[in-house]
Amino acid sequence: MTDHTLDAFRSRCQARIESTLDALLPPLTVQPTRLHEAMRYTVLASGKRIRPLLAYAAGEALGVDAEFLDRPACAVELIHAYSLIHDDLPSMDDDDLRRGRPTCHRAFDEATAILAGDALQTLAFQALAEAPGLSAEARIRMVETLARASGARGMVGGQAMDLEAAGTPLNLAMLENIHIHKTGALIRTSVQMGIRASGDLVPDHAERLDHYAKCLGLAFQIQDDILDVEGDTSMIGKTAGRDRQLDKATYPALVGLAGAKEMASNLIDQAHTALEVFDSGADPLRWIADALLERTA
Ligand code: IPE
Ligand code: IPE
Ligand code: MG
Ligand code: MG
Ligand code: MG
Repeated sequence: MTDHTLDAFRSRCQARIESTLDALLPPLTVQPTRLHEAMRYTVLASGKRIRPLLAYAAGEALGVDAEFLDRPACAVELIHAYSLIHDDLPSMDDDDLRRGRPTCHRAFDEATAILAGDALQTLAFQALAEAPGLSAEARIRMVETLARASGARGMVGGQAMDLEAAGTPLNLAMLENIHIHKTGALIRTSVQMGIRASGDLVPDHAERLDHYAKCLGLAFQIQDDILDVEGDTSMIGKTAGRDRQLDKATYPALVGLAGAKEMASNLIDQAHTALEVFDSGADPLRWIADALLERTA
């Protein structure tokens, strides 16, 4: 590594992420163009790309070349983009703003948004199954990991619990369960992609990276809840306060703003502890953990 900062690491990865996503997405010259436009509109908007970044950072900690992680990293981002389109639909969070622009169903129409989400989901698995440079064994394990994390026992299950819980009283364990599914599962999978791409691995290292990812995933959604309270719409690029309006189960609602901040900070400390045995190759993972608490978007 040349420049030892998160910004330098991020910009190195960003170029790979944007070009891989662009190449994977269907071109606008091909029918049905409206569907393809909706897919590109959402995916190529300015997201933070935290999930792909984590995949590359886990790879860096394990000495995996970035080129082997282009497809796995972007497959997770495609699932994430689909989850955002569906999360914003009128039957879910009914949101108007995402990544600083009208949500997909607002910019297009509801049916197109549903189909764009569907198509992004299948594209993610196609991208993984066809990933160059990885063994068939690694690809099938990645497909399995991503499918589990995205489905009824992962992100979709978390979304279902999130909707069910709106307006009902919850305890901390129930709320944690929602968060680790709706958001934590995909974050954990991002790190798993780096682990799966690595040939020989000390078992303890895989467990430690997984623990890091679990802590980070929960902290990430706690911070999302905090920003829902504190964030300014123009800064976070989505409708601030939407989760509160919908009476969603959030950490600030349950433990207060200060309590939520303390919990996020403790989780980041735990994430750092999990990385203790790693050398400077794990610095990008460390920088991402630190940046999470400072993020305003
Ligand atoms: C927003 O995710 C939805 C959650 C799971 C909290 P991000 O905050 O990663 O959104 P983008 O990708 O940067 O737009
Ligand atoms: C979204 O959680 C989680 C997924 C998309 C899986 P939120 O509903 O809190 O995300 P925002 O606040 O709309 O980005
Ligand atoms: Mg939601
Ligand atoms: Mg939402
Ligand atoms: Mg939110």
